[in-house]
Amino acid sequence: MALVGCGSAVPAASITNQQLSERVDTNDEWIRTRTGIRARRIAGPSESLTCLASRAAQAALDHAGWSPDDVDLILLATSSPDDLFGTAPRVQGTLGARRAVAFDLTAACSGFLFALITASQYLGSGTMKRALVIGADQLSRWVDWDDRSTCVLFGDGAGSVAVEACGAQDNGLLGFRMRSDGSRNGCLTLAQLDKHAPLLGELTAQRGGFAPIQMNGQEVYKFAVREVPAILSELLEATGTAPEQLDWLLLHQANQRILDAVADRFAIDHSQVLSNLALYGNTSAATIPLMLDEAVKDGRVQPGHLLASSGFGAGLSWGAALLRWQGPTD
Ligand code: UT7
Repeated sequence: MALVGCGSAVPAASITNQQLSERVDTNDEWIRTRTGIRARRIAGPSESLTCLASRAAQAALDHAGWSPDDVDLILLATSSPDDLFGTAPRVQGTLGARRAVAFDLTAACSGFLFALITASQYLGSGTMKRALVIGADQLSRWVDWDDRSTCVLFGDGAGSVAVEACGAQDNGLLGFRMRSDGSRNGCLTLAQLDKHAPLLGELTAQRGGFAPIQMNGQEVYKFAVREVPAILSELLEATGTAPEQLDWLLLHQANQRILDAVADRFAIDHSQVLSNLALYGNTSAATIPLMLDEAVKDGRVQPGHLLASSGFGAGLSWGAALLRWQGPTD
């Protein structure tokens, strides 16, 4: 599978730490020093998840030089769909990608990486040729804006990568690992409310609706700084890759302290750690493709560059992939 295009989209409105401190008991200094976040984008009424995901996917389509009819598969990684029955078909409709099958995949902040790996299986088996993989989230819908321990962390956004089947010499997914640990699910949840309404006689029916995001920040932090280096080590060893061979670390953007800790574990210079947390906060499934698009478009990531990527978060779930960026082919 070759990575031949990318795109991203973020809402227009940005909220700084200072602005947030007018709403909830927090301050810029705490948020900056504990997380690295300075601002986040928040979707307005005309910026649905479908809209952001479609804009990101259209940009990836254009970058790859494809037409909508070239696309066989659209995979949308999200935990904040517009429609629980699936938002990917809405994106497919918006793009006019009539031949593509489109479906959602949910694995929280690991979602984009899991979706990219899933797409690679369809392309590698020869059943499909071209896919758009999207990571998009609008967690502003699901945070409790009065809970300072979570609301300062998240933002909205979308990113997408165009991938196509290729020969072994152009392969851009050199190895991967994926993990889940449901025994630690309670550390980070956006869970269905336990609300039941009378139906008939003694019978009740559960009502739909979700409780705001709840997180044990310290537990998730410890999980990330333990598991991300471990899974990356395993992957580098399995692929015979030395950390010095990496051009970039492309990690899920949750906390600058996590990014730095992972880099230090591999003695990778902090200048090789891609980070845009300061501007966008944690956009969940969107962070990795949003970051990749920025670094490709500003010329930091060049064709042939090797990137070690890792996503981690609710589930708990985590994964890693060794990627080689190719960019648009003529
Ligand atoms: O994308 C999914 C993956 N998610 C993550 O990777 C998140 C991982 N966790 C983290 O990044 C960090 O745990 C946080 C940034 C969420 C929190 O940082 P922390 O250093 O673990 O802080 P803490 O939760 O231990 O809280 C320390 C203090 C507490 O006050 P006391 O009890 O020491 O008086 C909190 O009440 O900071 C307080 N606090 C705040 N103060 C100002 C918590 N949130 C805030 C806030 N503003 N927004």
